[in-house]
Amino acid sequence: MKNSFLCAIILLCCTNPLVAEDLTGTWASVHVAPDGNRSYTYFDLVQKGNELSGIVRFPWGDLPLIECAISGNRFHFAAAIDNARFDYNSQLVNGALQMTLSYHDGRQTTLLAERAASGLVVPPKIPLPALHAVPYNGLAARPPMGWNSWNHFHGDVDDAIIRSTADAMAANGLREAGYSYIVIDDTWEGQRDPQGVIHPNKKFPDMKALADYVHSKGLKFGIYSTPGPKTCADYEGSYGHEEQDAATFAAWGVDYLKYDWCSAFRIYANSEMRAVYQKMGDALQASGRPIVYSLCQSGKDNVWEWGPLVGGNLWRTTDDIADNWKAISANGFSQDPLAEYAAPGHWNDPDMLEIGNGGMTDDEYRSHMSLWAILASPLMAGNDLRSVKASVLSILANKEVIAIDQDALGKQGGRIKRIEQVEIWKRSLAGGDIAIAVFNRGNDVAKVSVRWSDLQLSSPAKVRDVWEEKNLIPAKELQTVLKPHAVLMMRLQMN
Ligand code: GLA
Repeated sequence: MKNSFLCAIILLCCTNPLVAEDLTGTWASVHVAPDGNRSYTYFDLVQKGNELSGIVRFPWGDLPLIECAISGNRFHFAAAIDNARFDYNSQLVNGALQMTLSYHDGRQTTLLAERAASGLVVPPKIPLPALHAVPYNGLAARPPMGWNSWNHFHGDVDDAIIRSTADAMAANGLREAGYSYIVIDDTWEGQRDPQGVIHPNKKFPDMKALADYVHSKGLKFGIYSTPGPKTCADYEGSYGHEEQDAATFAAWGVDYLKYDWCSAFRIYANSEMRAVYQKMGDALQASGRPIVYSLCQSGKDNVWEWGPLVGGNLWRTTDDIADNWKAISANGFSQDPLAEYAAPGHWNDPDMLEIGNGGMTDDEYRSHMSLWAILASPLMAGNDLRSVKASVLSILANKEVIAIDQDALGKQGGRIKRIEQVEIWKRSLAGGDIAIAVFNRGNDVAKVSVRWSDLQLSSPAKVRDVWEEKNLIPAKELQTVLKPHAVLMMRLQMN
């Protein structure tokens, strides 16, 4: 939350200097999705003379308004958090705000905000269990690999997309390359029945049949929920139904749960996260089915310190990724201090892959994949696999890069040198090999020349360029020329 809390109203129209209506109060907009779900955004506005301040209340968080401007009955304001930005252009028509919401990635949607009789209703807090250590479930000995629907499809995911993605993964070599989990992210949720059992919405007519289909392709099936009453997209959450939902997921054949903090922040303090996540960790184990447990709460409350204690196999360490170099850099290059917390069964997760979503160059996507491999990060593809370009497939499926990510030692790598815009990262591998990645973070071509001894390494016996898939002639120096945002990734054999 980087911007000022108070925005000046700019009166652009000299002939109409007065604002038609004082906007002070709570406004609510509802978006009805094609699946019937109603998602709400609240705007708490305070107008004082020519100044406007306020808060946008999303299902997942509250953000201050920034960059307000008024021209007659037209209003612009925005809200921003790390890799995401929301711009609202609105017009006051018959006492309601007609809004166009533009997202940072260019998507747009229209909304109508009306004066709300009451604000957001939050259910009472259910007491949390005492802390204990949930035993390790024995899963994710290597960083999980698979595909997740969110980065490309957002709310536009349905049964047919999951089936055809499973078909694609079984046919295009990704399954053989190690990608095994297909995870349906947010917006599958429907209503609870009178017994409290959750059902999918109409986009997913039969979840058990879908899981069976994914399994029949030799793949595993994953799903998404939240400890809060509502998911980040404002669908039904697991609050107060944790054991019941874990049992339902197990009965459907779920092998992986991504559990996202979202609206839980309205009920619990950050310091209560461990108990909240423990509750679902216990419920998953009580379900009797082996289910990989993926914690998603942006790395709050130093999750890496207690993630294994709630039965977590991986935990997000960052805010949401986006399909651009700035976001990849922010999420990936910040991970150095967390290396000691990764180990087989328990992984830091700087978020899912954006490779192939179209916002970056192939050099940037190779850097993204290389950095995630050095970090022993989960590799969850996030593009449309039904129509994937050969160049993208060759990045996602590069066996030698994947072998570094999946290395049996399970030791996360880190930064060993910075030379202006160039960074050199190292990861120790089983059997004594070493992975080295040289990244050019700058916008100009970079010439790199560094002695192995300056990296505290002896001269390697063999040097393998894993992207070019060829052996280089070992020399005393590491020398390369890198295009902007490009990477050289090598596997060194030391004797
Ligand atoms: C959060 C998560 C994302 C995605 C969305 C779904 O923002 O961090 O990865 O799951 O919620 O609403």
